[in-house]
Amino acid sequence: MKAVTYRGAREVAVEDVPEPRLEEPGDALVRVTCCGICGSDLHIYHGQIPGMIPGFVCGHEFTGVVEETGPGVRGFRPGDRVVGTFHVACGTCRACRRGAYNQCVRYGVFGYGIAMGSLAGSQAEYVRVPHADVNLRRIPDELDDEQALFCGDVLTTAYGALRNAGLQPGETVAVIGCGPVGLMAVQSAFVLGAARVFAIDLLRDRAEMAERLGAVPIVAGESHPVSRVNQLTGGEGADVVIEAVGGPRTVALAFELVRGGGRIVALGVTTAESFAFPLGTGLTRDISFRIGLANIHRDIDATLALVAAGRLDPTAIVSHRLPLSEAPLGYRLFDEREAMKVLLLPGQ
Ligand SMILES: NC(=O)c1ccc[n+]([C@@H]2O[C@H](COP(=O)([O-])OP(=O)(O)OC[C@H]3O[C@@H](n4cnc5c(N)ncnc54)[C@H](O)[C@@H]3O)[C@@H](O)[C@H]2O)c1
Ligand SMILES: [Zn+2]
Ligand SMILES: [Zn+2]
Repeated sequence: MKAVTYRGAREVAVEDVPEPRLEEPGDALVRVTCCGICGSDLHIYHGQIPGMIPGFVCGHEFTGVVEETGPGVRGFRPGDRVVGTFHVACGTCRACRRGAYNQCVRYGVFGYGIAMGSLAGSQAEYVRVPHADVNLRRIPDELDDEQALFCGDVLTTAYGALRNAGLQPGETVAVIGCGPVGLMAVQSAFVLGAARVFAIDLLRDRAEMAERLGAVPIVAGESHPVSRVNQLTGGEGADVVIEAVGGPRTVALAFELVRGGGRIVALGVTTAESFAFPLGTGLTRDISFRIGLANIHRDIDATLALVAAGRLDPTAIVSHRLPLSEAPLGYRLFDEREAMKVLLLPGQ
């Protein structure tokens, strides 16, 4: 089958690789209909993910049709239209039973190399899904595959971050980074009751995309995000800050943007091991800081329902739909910020 493989920094290829097969009784084999290129794939593309060895199949966002199921799969049959969760969980360990699927002892991420569960990725014609009953969802009839794809990662990641922040109706939210995750945070914030959302990016066109979703755009570099948010909040700061870039600089910015007593949730993937935590101001200003991997299984049913009901429209941010064979172009456009969200379509 054709699949996108990692070849080295800034190099992906579309190659013929062996088709995956069922390995465990709980596995499903899914024929991929649509897969995304995510900001998290860019960390791989930049050569920053150590477990990615040349030849590893990339990609973790996907929808498809179940082709085959192992004897242990109860909830799915061949022909079912499904969306996958970008990270997998077993559903039975203590963490899973507590609902902390992102802390599963068998945690893995599709297409993220040998340090993340060694799961071949979904930018391919077929993908093997372990613990299929846990890691697949049937796509409601009201949703097309593109809409559902967002529920397997960026939309649910962002929605979950706002839940983790305990957003209350009427509050203000600052979102740092207007890539797909940041834009989904803008949409989710409004659905969860935010009165105002400030959307910060270095790039004008990305901040403007957030503006089209209802946010107040702030182009870092043209105006200082902290002064601007202070000005817009009567000097108080934002109730909630979502960091959707990754790394110490934007996390530090989050501390400057948040009001006393406010909450920060950092989502961005980083390879930095540590960060100079502002202990003094964190203490006196009573700041809650949360960082972590998305817990897709906790929130995916909610996001699928909200998209099905027309309350969220993630496909508004899709800029490119390319055949799988053009994945190298898709990666380059997304990396160079010429594309907002690239979908790859293996069937074309
Ligand atoms: N925690 C999780 O489980 C999880 C899940 C999905 C994605 N992520 C991570 O979330 C982050 C965002 O994902 P994405 O798909 O939107 O990525 P992206 O790379 O498309 O978007 C990042 C955006 O941040 C902007 N940016 C960069 N530096 C900035 C700065 N200093 N100030 C303001 N804006 C800045 C960029 O211009 C870009 O628009 C990535 O790090 C991704 O790996 C984490
Ligand atoms: Zn992702
Ligand atoms: Zn588990």
